[in-house]
Amino acid sequence: MKRTILLLFVLFSSSIAYAQKFENLALTPPMGWNSWNRFGCNVSEKLIRETADAMVSSGMKDAGYQYVVIDDCWHGERDANGFIQPNAEHFPSGMKALGDYIHSKGLRFGIYSDVGAKTCGGKPGSRGHEYQDAITYASWGVDYLKYDWCNSEGINPIGAYTAMRDALYATRRPIVFSICEWGDNKPWEWAKPIGHLWRTTGDITHCWDCEENHGPWSSWGVMRILDKQKGLRVHAKPGHWNDPDMMEVGNGMTVSEDRAHFSMWAMLAAPLIAGNDTRNMIKETREILTNKEVIAVDQDALGIQGFPAISEDGLEVWAKPLSNGDWAVCFLNRGATAKNLSFDWKENFIKDDSFQRQFDAKQTTYKIRDLWAKKSLGTTATILKTTVPSHDVVMLRLTK
Ligand code: GLA
Repeated sequence: MKRTILLLFVLFSSSIAYAQKFENLALTPPMGWNSWNRFGCNVSEKLIRETADAMVSSGMKDAGYQYVVIDDCWHGERDANGFIQPNAEHFPSGMKALGDYIHSKGLRFGIYSDVGAKTCGGKPGSRGHEYQDAITYASWGVDYLKYDWCNSEGINPIGAYTAMRDALYATRRPIVFSICEWGDNKPWEWAKPIGHLWRTTGDITHCWDCEENHGPWSSWGVMRILDKQKGLRVHAKPGHWNDPDMMEVGNGMTVSEDRAHFSMWAMLAAPLIAGNDTRNMIKETREILTNKEVIAVDQDALGIQGFPAISEDGLEVWAKPLSNGDWAVCFLNRGATAKNLSFDWKENFIKDDSFQRQFDAKQTTYKIRDLWAKKSLGTTATILKTTVPSHDVVMLRLTK
């Protein structure tokens, strides 16, 4: 008897010692779709099935989008034993059937919960039910969990996110863990062994440079979110990513702004989680979201986040080191008028001290590919002359 107790103790403590996140699940930034930005609480199995269908027919799946994530408000109540149920009216077939449908399309299934007793939308959160919820999600075939931070007063963030990480790991089903803590407690400093991505800011909204004040909190336009990424790039790498929030492409900004937004998320090696109505996309939205050359910059295997190398009069030059010595360079015009550009590559030495990379066109001549015009622009031996429209980008890939 004593030996059995000792054995159980050893097994229990070793399972604690080895509690960990699932490795190798996010060697490049996760790509997918999430319901929140466009649909808020209006989620249903009909919407999710139609979205999965549209992700296949629009070419998004082919471009690399994988996860179909149902955000807040899918929940019903907990049953008598504490197991969470989906809202029966909006998810009449149940979550296992929905997961099966998503998987049958070659896509992956994502879901949402919260650290607190209630989600931000007032639905049941996971507090005190972490292991029960993780097992339930695994039984539904869930592949991705976004875990929010509402109603977390008095809760230790590291403890709360570690508890759910361990609960997920205990199910033995590989589940990407998306930490949505809004950057409040600097997750980039502690979440690397816990999650695969962590939100760095409060919520995004579909405007270029605004703040939407909701009283106790604000949501932020694309440029505001971009500025909040300062200093964070050293924390991202294959396996764990800074998450500047889900995209607003196709949700009401101009085509130029959407293009700039998408380009900058690729420069940031951000998770590319679309947040629009994929069933009704205009051609321009679809072309932005499925530009494979821009996506390749985001998904580059080196996993180094880009940085603003030069900034002058509302025009920023962002640089991102890529595999094989390539670079992505993105000219971002934040201003209200078009800017004529005359850029002498040889006079603009770019140095990335954090990752020991340098771009020196005096030493090396690079071939230039325009990733939106989808054409060659010669080499870095000559001065680049072009125009960057207002709230738009010129995004290039430089190859040795
Ligand atoms: C928070 C998150 C959002 C979204 C909502 C849902 O605000 O940051 O991304 O999940 O909750 O209520």
